[in-house]
Amino acid sequence: MDSLNINILTHGGIKKTSVLLSGGNVSALEPFDGRVDGSRLLIPSFIDMHVHFRDFEQKGKETVGTGSMAALAGGASAVCDMPNTVPPVDDKETYERRRSLFSNDSLCDYLINFCVYDDASLEEARLVDPLFIKVFLEETTGSLILDERKLEELFKLRKPIALHTHLEGMREGIKLSKRYGTHLHICHVSTKEEVEVLARYKDENITCEVTPHHLFLSSDYDVKPPISSERDRRYLWGALGNIVDIVASDHAPHTSEDKERGAYGVSGVETTLPLMYTALNRKNITAEAFCKCMHLNQGALLSRLGRRFGFKAGGRGDFAVLDVGSKALLDPSSFFSKAKHSPFKGMELDARVSETWVRGRPFFVDGKFTEYAKGREIEKDSI
Ligand code: DOR
Ligand code: ZN
Ligand code: ZN
Repeated sequence: MDSLNINILTHGGIKKTSVLLSGGNVSALEPFDGRVDGSRLLIPSFIDMHVHFRDFEQKGKETVGTGSMAALAGGASAVCDMPNTVPPVDDKETYERRRSLFSNDSLCDYLINFCVYDDASLEEARLVDPLFIKVFLEETTGSLILDERKLEELFKLRKPIALHTHLEGMREGIKLSKRYGTHLHICHVSTKEEVEVLARYKDENITCEVTPHHLFLSSDYDVKPPISSERDRRYLWGALGNIVDIVASDHAPHTSEDKERGAYGVSGVETTLPLMYTALNRKNITAEAFCKCMHLNQGALLSRLGRRFGFKAGGRGDFAVLDVGSKALLDPSSFFSKAKHSPFKGMELDARVSETWVRGRPFFVDGKFTEYAKGREIEKDSI
């Protein structure tokens, strides 16, 4: 049994709270009247819903070990791993191999995805139970593109689908989601047009995410989809927490040599929460929108997909503690990720992650991983 008296960020602002943890869960959350350390701020249950932890044959870019350390150092209690690995997670055997790799090597909690891009992987998709079946409809790292004409067969399986797509593919996905009642998650929206289509057609089976690089960056960087225009960027900020459900890093690690050759991707799992807190602190986003897109909507999405996640009385004890009393310059050379580069290098951050807790235990404290830091797959909700 652990208890903390601490400032918590809620959608209504910062609240002094007494947190009681037992058996991995939050057993009570009560208003607290006494003194708390003003430099510590609890951010509930951040999960990074879009990371590429590579490994298998690309250990030089990232391993599940280094990626999961980076996640905890970035304040994420859990991650959702993408399947465009080498080899790809495209059959039951590789899917099970990915699960045991995470079970052995991940320091944070996790969910695993599966990739469908041809007839064989479509058949194998019937045999597995991933969080999402990931589909690429356009070119990016890995070249696992599904012919759009096969999309309908996949939606008929009624397994949740995460789509990396252009605008037309998104329209097609929305149509099929409505026809079959299949959950559709649109990855990394980056333009006003995409958000407008979503605003018009979104229902409880359709969710979407935005990345920090599409929100913050105004100069070019090698990434897919490409960096947004100023017009798009402003629109994305305005849609955060309402049309755009969640922020996810799309952590896509590459070696420095591969980056120099133009590989797509941002090393982002360690910087998403500090960047978003900085936006909150500078009043570029409200506490309500922050809480929605950084934890409340992730919790709602996972609960809809049958997984138990989210910081509340009776829920899992997952949270980060930020040190909001000191500023720091973003320095990729200090990343735990193997990909020690960032388009945000040198940016001033208004907080640093001092602790990350998972299932009621501190996994990461002041730059070090504790004896508890051993990840598990986020289990199916038993209710
Ligand atoms: O920039 C990206 N990198 N976008 C993607 O969609 C894939 C990712 C990767 O795996 O490198
Ligand atoms: Zn993508
Ligand atoms: Zn991605």
